[in-house]
Amino acid sequence: MSVTNKTKRITARDIRLRSGGQPIVALTAYTTPMARALDPHCDLLLVGDSLGMVVYGMPTTLGVTLDMMIAHGQAVMRGTERACVVVDMPFGSYQESPQQAFRTAARIMAETNASAVKLEGGVEMAATVAFLVERGVPVLGHVGLKPQSVHGHGGFRTVGRGDEAAQVMADAEAIAAAGAFAIVIEGTLEPLARAITERLPVPTIGIGASPACDGQILVTEDVMGLFADFTPRFVKRYAELNAQIAAAAAAYAEDVRARRFPGPEHCVAGTRPAPGKAGE
Ligand code: KIV
Repeated sequence: MSVTNKTKRITARDIRLRSGGQPIVALTAYTTPMARALDPHCDLLLVGDSLGMVVYGMPTTLGVTLDMMIAHGQAVMRGTERACVVVDMPFGSYQESPQQAFRTAARIMAETNASAVKLEGGVEMAATVAFLVERGVPVLGHVGLKPQSVHGHGGFRTVGRGDEAAQVMADAEAIAAAGAFAIVIEGTLEPLARAITERLPVPTIGIGASPACDGQILVTEDVMGLFADFTPRFVKRYAELNAQIAAAAAAYAEDVRARRFPGPEHCVAGTRPAPGKAGE
């Protein structure tokens, strides 16, 4: 009899059952090494289409393609064994019809082996969420500030002030009723996030939506100081890796120029550091 010591992966159902319970810890991940580092600490890892901005330098998430999401979803799955991995459906790959959304979700699920997909939208996407869930695809919703609708919102701004609050509440209720296992609430005010969290039967995961949510998610590059273009007010930096990378690159450059690297300890036996063309 063989004894396997495989970690049990957290499922979308496990996440759903966390409503009102222990806070859900979530971050984004796009690559195998980063996913490997985050996996032991996170309940959920999102392969977010924010990768378009923080990895590819795009101005918005709108240019991200399904093939990009699948390649990064595969990379993250290779680096994880514990976290529930969710892959974003990119702009234009699901809004047209429930059938189009199913084809997209089916490719993501089959080609990445991820646990679930995420899509942005409220009342107008509820039928699509129900269509996917009824066909066995767990869906994470996303309401409030929806980056794929940045032009519709009129920029990256707080959503849900005044009259907008009722719409965000209706969106969250519609997506939960359609069967989403949890809902990301982005960029909204604490009283609204609290009211949604109290009303929904599924957990809320906030990003810039206050501590009232059942869990929190941030973009890892923001948290680690790897994305310097701008830092939203709701981000807490836990590391300054850009500065460390720049310092390491400068030290390497100095060593190479001064012929301090490679040293004897970096050379295969029988070779020695090149003395330079003039033998200096
Ligand atoms: O794409 C993403 O990273 C997201 C998070 C910000 C929730 O949707």
